[in-house]
Amino acid sequence: MKVLMINGSPRKESNAQVMLDEMTGVFEQEGIEVECICVGKEIVRGCVACGGCGKLGKCVHDDIVNEIAAKLEQADGLVVASPVYYASANGTLISILDRLFFSASFDMTMKVGAAVACARRGGITATWDELNKYFGISGMPIATGQYWNGAHGRLGGEASQDAEGMQQMRTLARNMVFLMKSIALGREQYGLPEREPGVMTNFIR
Ligand SMILES: Cc1cc2nc3c(=O)[nH]c(=O)nc-3n(C[C@H](O)[C@H](O)[C@H](O)COP(=O)(O)O)c2cc1C
Repeated sequence: MKVLMINGSPRKESNAQVMLDEMTGVFEQEGIEVECICVGKEIVRGCVACGGCGKLGKCVHDDIVNEIAAKLEQADGLVVASPVYYASANGTLISILDRLFFSASFDMTMKVGAAVACARRGGITATWDELNKYFGISGMPIATGQYWNGAHGRLGGEASQDAEGMQQMRTLARNMVFLMKSIALGREQYGLPEREPGVMTNFIR
């Protein structure tokens, strides 16, 4: 089993990375393979709504987004970590996630998603909600923990001093492993849920 991690922080000493590392400890104990991609310093554009991905099956801008898509296709779970910027996920990460989830042509159903956010003081839950929305529209069960997954810290690495935040990460990782294993068993025994052809209405017709 494999978990893909995306860290939105551009910082070398990143509190988001501290959180992901705490989760990685649990994943490794459980024999889950982990790959972490740090995207915070990438120069990326947002989605330009060209619709080209509908024909190509991937984003027309062939950059880190398509690389992440190829890795996500092989993964059983996805953890997205973001620093809180103005009570939201950071802009680079959002540009990448918009394009990733809009352009990917493979089925993400039953890949387990988890979001974590770190902040000096406020905005963790707003960011957590924001990130969970990508999973919610993609048939991805959302792993939860013992709180709304977050940790506090300002300077690089400070989040490691947030004992409750670190415990949240370990709980979240354990719950995520349980979900991924349960889904693998269920898929084997019952198969994936039936999927109807999509209906899309725009409120006016
Ligand atoms: C542009 C910017 C906006 C920020 N906005 C917030 C905020 O809204 N709330 C908050 O508590 N901290 C805010 N911070 C502080 C970061 O969330 C905090 O330092 C966090 O630990 C950074 O995570 P990182 O080390 O993984 O990059 C902001 C930092 C920056 C650079």
